[in-house]
Amino acid sequence: MRLAINIDHVATIREARGGVEPDPVTAAGICELAGAEGIVCHLREDRRHINDRDVRLLRETVKTKLDLEMAATEEIIRIAIETLPDLVTLVPEKRQELTTEGGLDVAGNKNYLRDAIKEFHKQEIDVSLFVDPTAGQIEAAHEIGADMIELHTGEYANARTEKEAAALLDVIRNAARLGKELGLGVNAGHGLNYVNIRPFASIKEIDEVSIGHAIISYAVFVGLDRAVREMRKLVEEK
Ligand code: PXP
Repeated sequence: MRLAINIDHVATIREARGGVEPDPVTAAGICELAGAEGIVCHLREDRRHINDRDVRLLRETVKTKLDLEMAATEEIIRIAIETLPDLVTLVPEKRQELTTEGGLDVAGNKNYLRDAIKEFHKQEIDVSLFVDPTAGQIEAAHEIGADMIELHTGEYANARTEKEAAALLDVIRNAARLGKELGLGVNAGHGLNYVNIRPFASIKEIDEVSIGHAIISYAVFVGLDRAVREMRKLVEEK
């Protein structure tokens, strides 16, 4: 399983003072040197953390794989097509939310999303759809031509008991299996941390996890290099 790291929170700290540091572009380099296999950033419509300059520089400097997380709006699609990331992950976006709150309703927006996917494919950009781990959404993602799905792990991450977590992990496992049966790449993310990631290493159908908040938070205390290396180990463990 690969580890992709979301560096939005580094930009959030920068924006707290509106200055130039800490720089998420520097963070991306450190993450890669410590073993990250991909860098994820979310260019939000309100530019609350990552901005256009970051995306431009990340495109120039990221050596592994740049995943641009984004809402499928006209403006952001245009920027993505100019930037040419390796991958876009389409997510729903609400201005008031603190972070992405749920998966995309692919089944309810097939035509719009199919057209957006075609635009990206013309530029040879792979497209991942962030979906709740349900058969209906995964089948819809396959039907409209997505290359991969990212399974929303937020509910699993918020489980309050071990029993609940185990049941939700089964839901993710089954969803990952379905994705693979349909020939999709399968990523997973949201709310994963140094504890709840452990059982994921046993789900062979998940190609990659995308983790942000837990790694950047831990890095505040132990440094980014160590925070990334420790997560790399957990992701590799069988
Ligand atoms: N995947 C997606 C689609 C997300 O929106 C986010 C949050 O930006 C993440 C992964 C990473 O979530 P977290 O910061 O909770 O690790």
